Amino acid sequence: MAQPPPAPTPDAWRRLDAYLTETLVGHDADLETAVAAQHEAGLPAIEVAPVSGKLLQLLVRISGARRVLEVGTLGAYSTIWMARGIPEDGAVVTIEAEPANTAVARANLDRAGVGAKVEIRVGRAEHVLPTLREEQPFDFVFIDADKESNTIYLDWAARLGHPGTVIVVDNIGRGGEVANPATTAANVIGTQRGLEMLGRDPRFDATALQTLDLKGWDGVAIAVVTDAAAAPAP
Ligand code: DHB
Ligand code: MG
Repeated sequence: MAQPPPAPTPDAWRRLDAYLTETLVGHDADLETAVAAQHEAGLPAIEVAPVSGKLLQLLVRISGARRVLEVGTLGAYSTIWMARGIPEDGAVVTIEAEPANTAVARANLDRAGVGAKVEIRVGRAEHVLPTLREEQPFDFVFIDADKESNTIYLDWAARLGHPGTVIVVDNIGRGGEVANPATTAANVIGTQRGLEMLGRDPRFDATALQTLDLKGWDGVAIAVVTDAAAAPAP
C-alpha cells in the first residue's frame, strides 16, 4: 500500500519554499535591499514571497504586457519584479494610499534601476483609479491593497483594461479562512466578494492558486478580462 503523502507542516513547506527559491529565483541584492529598507522603515512584512514576485514577473512577460497597474505599492517589492518584466518603453503605474510608504518605495525603485519606468500615484485607490481613464489601457493589473475594496478594484481593472488584460489578486486564501462562510473579518469578506465577482461577472474568466511559502498558506487569483468587457458594464 502506498504511504499517504506527508502533511505540509510549516517546517516542511518552508523548507520546500527555501529550496525552490534558492533553485529557481536565487539572490538579488536590489530586491533583498528593498525588503530590508522596508523593514527598517517600519513597514509591515506583507510583500509577496520571492517565488510569487517571480510569478508576477513571468505572468507579465508571458502576457506581453507593456502597461502594468498595481493597487497597493507598500515598499515596491512586487513593483520592482513587475517593472523588470516589461519592455524598456513600458510603464508601471502603482497606487499607494500611505504617503510615508512612497518615499521608501521610490528609493527602492531607483536603487533597483527601474525608477524611470514606474509612476507612483498617492491616494486612496478608489479615488485615483477614476483619474486613469484618460490614460492608455492597462495590459496587466495586480491588486494587493485593502481587501475590503477588492470588488471596486476589480471593476476598475475591467474598465481600465481591455479584452486580454491579465488580473492577479493577492491573498485569496488567508490560511483557509476565505472558505469560511461565517467569517466576520471585513478583509476576508472583501476577499470573498472579490472572488464571487470573478466567478460570476461575465467580464472575467478566473481561477486561483493556493500558495504555501514563507508567508504561510495563502494564494492568488489569476483572471483574464473577456470580450464581455468591451460591452457596457452589466
Ligand atoms: C496583509 C495584506 C497583504 O497584502 C498581504 O500580502 C498579507 C497580509 C494584511 O493586511 O494583513
Ligand atoms: Mg498581499
